[in-house]
Amino acid sequence: MAIKYVPYFKDTISGQAILDNFTRTKRILKYADNNKVNERIERGLPLYETEVTEIVGEESDNLVIRGECLSACAYLKENNIKVDLVYIDPPFASGADYAKTVYVRRNPKVAKAIKETEQTLDIEELKSFEEKMYGDIWNKEAYLNWMYENLMAIKSIMSENASIYVHLDWHIGHYVKILMDEIFGEDNFINEIIWHYSWGIRTEKQWNKKHDTIYMYSLSDNFCFNASSVLEERKKSEATENRLKYKGALIKDGNKGRGNQEKALPTDVWYIATINGMATEKTDYSTQKPEELLERIIKASSNEGMIIADFFGGSGVTAKVANDLKRKFIHCDIGINSIETTRDRLLSAGASFKIIDIKDGVNLYRNPVQTMEKLDKLIPGLVNEDSVDEFWEGVINDSTLGKIPVYVPNLMDSSTKILDVVLINKIVNQEITKLDDSIKKVIIYYIDIIDRKEIDDFIKDNLRIDIEIELRDLKEILNETVVNDVIEYHIESNKLFVDTFISDRLIRKIDEYNEKMNSQALSTGKKPNLIEISNEGLELIELISLDCTSKDGIWHSDQEIKIDKLGYVIVNGAKKDYLWDGTISFNEKPLRIKVRNISGDESISIIND
Ligand SMILES: C[S@@+](CC[C@H](N)C(=O)[O-])C[C@H]1O[C@@H](n2cnc3c(N)ncnc32)[C@H](O)[C@@H]1O
Repeated sequence: MAIKYVPYFKDTISGQAILDNFTRTKRILKYADNNKVNERIERGLPLYETEVTEIVGEESDNLVIRGECLSACAYLKENNIKVDLVYIDPPFASGADYAKTVYVRRNPKVAKAIKETEQTLDIEELKSFEEKMYGDIWNKEAYLNWMYENLMAIKSIMSENASIYVHLDWHIGHYVKILMDEIFGEDNFINEIIWHYSWGIRTEKQWNKKHDTIYMYSLSDNFCFNASSVLEERKKSEATENRLKYKGALIKDGNKGRGNQEKALPTDVWYIATINGMATEKTDYSTQKPEELLERIIKASSNEGMIIADFFGGSGVTAKVANDLKRKFIHCDIGINSIETTRDRLLSAGASFKIIDIKDGVNLYRNPVQTMEKLDKLIPGLVNEDSVDEFWEGVINDSTLGKIPVYVPNLMDSSTKILDVVLINKIVNQEITKLDDSIKKVIIYYIDIIDRKEIDDFIKDNLRIDIEIELRDLKEILNETVVNDVIEYHIESNKLFVDTFISDRLIRKIDEYNEKMNSQALSTGKKPNLIEISNEGLELIELISLDCTSKDGIWHSDQEIKIDKLGYVIVNGAKKDYLWDGTISFNEKPLRIKVRNISGDESISIIND
């Protein structure tokens, strides 16, 4: 449950053309001739308790926040933290689920395997499987409503002269532009930037889509813009031709190495290549944007020491570039893989920061998509059935009551998290009335209820059909989704030797993968490409960290090794050219050990004497 609701800066700009086919946060109660408008935004931004889980490097103001954009903004607003520049690259409503390739490492315990890995390994040869990272399938209205709340929340924590860049593409960009006019004001619209790239397949059937769109707004005319730090190369012939005509727009470049080559003031069409598979900045986070893109934005729209925030941070590109350019950063993301990828990336870059976990009661299993998938299996008896409306997640077949439709909130869309009068009204007065007469009972899962009595009274006063409504707390099921991995080890002088690593969640995942491969092999007649895991299971480890500072509370990684997908180690963020040998050395006595498996699940245990 939220501790309280922090007010949004909730004024939109009057007089703008607005989209009228979605409800924004105004959700209308249409029942019993009552057209009362219930504004969720009036309630404010949900502020939850937070926990600092790790401090990396020196004490600093830089933050990596695990949680939703809305609750991260509530945290910042409550702590009077204002940001000077925002870049967001939110889900685009692309209709796709984004996956991460999980690479099984080499088992250092098996001598033969070590020998094999000494030869240059091709990534193609590595054993891997896919895991969903985040889902991006929305209907337009739900997406716009969600985006409206996020943008209103972000506006609430922007400093007086701050700018915001919102990165989208053809799927939803034009709608969001209108929404942004409403929120930030058309007069504060600075420009639409075209990020042009050549990546992706091409077809002869139509113009190939090769650009994304970035909308830039500022809160005042006094926004920061450093044109001279983002000058563009001008093609020589064009420069010569236009020199006389447009003299004012050309600047002499003092760069000695290139002579007096002319540079031009920056424009709004940027050709920047997408990240090449071999690029050192590549992190394997799908949808990762190139550092060069962020470098341009941050250099132009901020100065050293300013705070740069990205609330849909993904691979951590904004935080990384901000840190390189001596700005402060705030990275927020809802998925654990983003937080881990960013943490490791920032650690390697020598950044100092705090990791904060927002305790919103939703114990996510890695990320919202994977949690939703898992829930379908965890709710006893739940089966997805086409016969009920899409509002219901599925049905439970009960021997006495027959089909029981089950409603589960969508973890991707925070507006469905709270069971309030608006939602129960929708259920009682709309959704239940559409059900078949044979239905005797429905089950409603919720995450938060603001006022249980209000909901019970509402049901009593409004339910006109003979049907039972059972309310169940989804958090109880979510708590069951996490089962820790087990590491066994022994210590000899200043070295910890990992003996075995058992991860039931990964083994189950790999079993599922192998089953799929076997059935594909049956239909194709080809030998299945199976993943085999040794008894020791060390090939399922991605990172080991030792805390030599404290036995509980905030994590201090005093010594850590990360194993890359080829089996090479990264020690305390620095890449090495040798393979992992199944050990980790330390100088001070370790008190706790943290292990991260290749899917990103982390387990902590105390090291006993
Ligand atoms: C397109 S990706 C961002 C990629 C990033 N710009 C990069 O270059 O790596 C969108 C991210 O938004 C995150 N996300 C989705 N819904 C969110 C929410 N409500 N709050 C915070 N993050 C969210 C997803 O986990 C995903 O990492």
